[in-house]
Amino acid sequence: MKISIIGAGNVGASIAYALCMREVCDEIALVDIFNDVAKAKAIDITQASCVFGAKTKVVGADNFELVKNSDIVVVTAGSPRKDGQSREDLLIKNALVVKSSAENIAKFAPNAIIIVVTNPLDVMVWVARKFSGFDKSRVLGMAGELDGARCRFELAQILSQDMSELRTKVVGAHNDKMVISNKNINVNLNKENFEVLKHETKTGGAKIVKLLGTSAYYAPAAAVVKMCEEIKDQKGEIVSASVILDDDLSCGRLVKLSKNGVGEILELNLDQEDLDELNASQDEIRKNINFLKENL
Ligand code: 2OP
Repeated sequence: MKISIIGAGNVGASIAYALCMREVCDEIALVDIFNDVAKAKAIDITQASCVFGAKTKVVGADNFELVKNSDIVVVTAGSPRKDGQSREDLLIKNALVVKSSAENIAKFAPNAIIIVVTNPLDVMVWVARKFSGFDKSRVLGMAGELDGARCRFELAQILSQDMSELRTKVVGAHNDKMVISNKNINVNLNKENFEVLKHETKTGGAKIVKLLGTSAYYAPAAAVVKMCEEIKDQKGEIVSASVILDDDLSCGRLVKLSKNGVGEILELNLDQEDLDELNASQDEIRKNINFLKENL
């Protein structure tokens, strides 16, 4: 299996490293506008895999031909948030980067599945599908697995217990309107603790940006690797991913993945309050998509 990663920054390189350490695929290509950065990280990550005798071949450069014959292409290129910025502040600048990446993926890896990471995530999934021309089943975004992991972490903090028994799934937009429903966590919380859980999960990304001055990358990378493993192994696990729902909407849903990309999209199991919040966030995503339809 070959997995290519567009963008050899913190997230892209962490994905490549984690794929190697978990021996997910045979070959990884790292593509970045900074040729030497891609080359150096490819060598360094290959040498990391040599420590454990792993056999993943990692190459890096600034040309898109490297993505030829990829089974999966992960798009991380674009600017991360800075402190005080929302993900939506990156809209136009990152849409141009994802548009160019999608056009190149269509040219060099026409049979690949695209996993988008670049923010604002849900809108960038729509950009990637539009400019790759791929069937909607082969374009998805990483967000819900990251938000679900943060929810699990915060839940363990609240309950002061080990995370291994906790199950949490987050759907909806990858922003502060993400939907954390008590129907998608496997423990009962009182109202006060549930409000804390929702707040701490929704601000999980911003907390890292405030401390670090840039976005998180280890947890996002792990979430991408989880999705790649599910595509490869087709275990039928339920995964939260941003998917194309209609011509002007992509948003987080619970889905099943396979080597063909997005299979079943599960019905939402939400109460009316959560559905209202989800619909409001989807209206915002539609607004941004319609803005790009006019300006991209
Ligand atoms: C995050 O929430 C980068 O959007 C990603 O950290």
